[in-house]
Amino acid sequence: ETTVCVAQVFRGTFVHSTLEDPLEVLDNTVLGVDKKGKIVFIEKGGDVKSLSDKWGFLDKDVRQLDPHEFIMPGLVDSHIHASQYSYSGTALDLPLLQWLNTYTFPVESQYKDLKFADKVYNKVVRRTLRNGTTTACYFATIHTDASLLLGEIANKLGQRALVGKVCMDRNDAVNDYKEKTEESSGETKRFIQKLMEKKYPHVRPIVTPRFAISCTSGLLRELGDIAKNSNLHIQSHISENKEECEMVKKLFPDLKSYTDVYLKHNLLTDKTVMAHGCYLSDAELQVFHGTGASISHCPNSNISLCSGMLDVRNALNHKVKVGLGTDVGGGYSPSILNAIRRTLMTSKALTIQNPSHQTLTFEEVFRLATLGGSQALSLDSETGNFEVGKDFDALLVNVCVPEGPMDICGPEPTKVLLEKFLNLGDDRNICEVYVAGRRVVPFADKAS
Ligand code: GUN
Ligand code: ZN
Repeated sequence: ETTVCVAQVFRGTFVHSTLEDPLEVLDNTVLGVDKKGKIVFIEKGGDVKSLSDKWGFLDKDVRQLDPHEFIMPGLVDSHIHASQYSYSGTALDLPLLQWLNTYTFPVESQYKDLKFADKVYNKVVRRTLRNGTTTACYFATIHTDASLLLGEIANKLGQRALVGKVCMDRNDAVNDYKEKTEESSGETKRFIQKLMEKKYPHVRPIVTPRFAISCTSGLLRELGDIAKNSNLHIQSHISENKEECEMVKKLFPDLKSYTDVYLKHNLLTDKTVMAHGCYLSDAELQVFHGTGASISHCPNSNISLCSGMLDVRNALNHKVKVGLGTDVGGGYSPSILNAIRRTLMTSKALTIQNPSHQTLTFEEVFRLATLGGSQALSLDSETGNFEVGKDFDALLVNVCVPEGPMDICGPEPTKVLLEKFLNLGDDRNICEVYVAGRRVVPFADKAS
């Protein structure tokens, strides 16, 4: 006899990553989800009759997939600026520091207007969900109330999210888009408290110093203390662009590297995710490995802003956790499928430069976009693949939708269907999206 109540059962083909295997294909498999959205069993070649006897579900609860359908883990966007979605797809003609001063800071200062925030934040959460992002790690803006609104919207639409109120007490370019040091740390505490009070099941706060250039040492120290005292996640940017790295050296002359700046302020922990890291030295990668901090690789942004190219292979060789990020609006695409393609292109570009570079495989990049992202965000005990006990965060993919983005011209193994989907697919192929067992796409309403 069992006390577990199986609420949903899926039968068909599943693909996911494990620590040992970047792509495990599970054909003819049965997976059960309980009322809380947790995976209670996954059995290859499982016989529905004996499983239903054991778990007590009914035939009518079994969702039989079609031959052109498979289920994969939800995609993880480990770095996205929700506030920059309003101008994404434009304004990519300047290098990072000028881009921030010219486009980004003026736009972000508009989020003191909650109506504007409400409009953009609904759009970005819906867009990313439709594109299969079941977990997103967001930068909002310096405005506490608008950042809380982003958390509320992610919860309402059912996305798993880490939400950061941005902290910056240095900004020479746009004078009203910065905070006083004590205001920034005080508002961060208020943000954390208010967001936790809501008890959203899948939305949590993340401590968010923008980057070393826009924070004083005093603010970095206070944020490190806040994160430590409440055991919170931390996110920032590191070593994205050469000019930025030079500026950090000038601002923190006593510290031995960019990594050392965050390390000395208690901001590198096993719950830290740092975007970019294009110019990290091997010694710095060792510090990442030692602290358990991770890198969010954002290749669309890195190429769009001519910032640099992260050598993901080298980071993985140093056993650093790596996830993928869109970095909207430095990256123009809100889709992790695009990040997957740009990751492969960047890896191939590195091989062109240096033929001894070991190019990433599509299976490895599939893992970075799913399990890797959940590890990078320290959420891998809850999500990232189809292990029993984890939440069912999943995409139901159909590679053969009418007028869709690709053609399947004969019987193909699942591995080929997945590769085609990763290279050619889009939201038309993502028929259903689940977060913790709840179907969140198609949306309950039709508004866009
Ligand atoms: N570094 C500091 N802020 C930002 C930002 O908003 N986008 C990117 N790409 N890099 C940053
Ligand atoms: Zn960013």
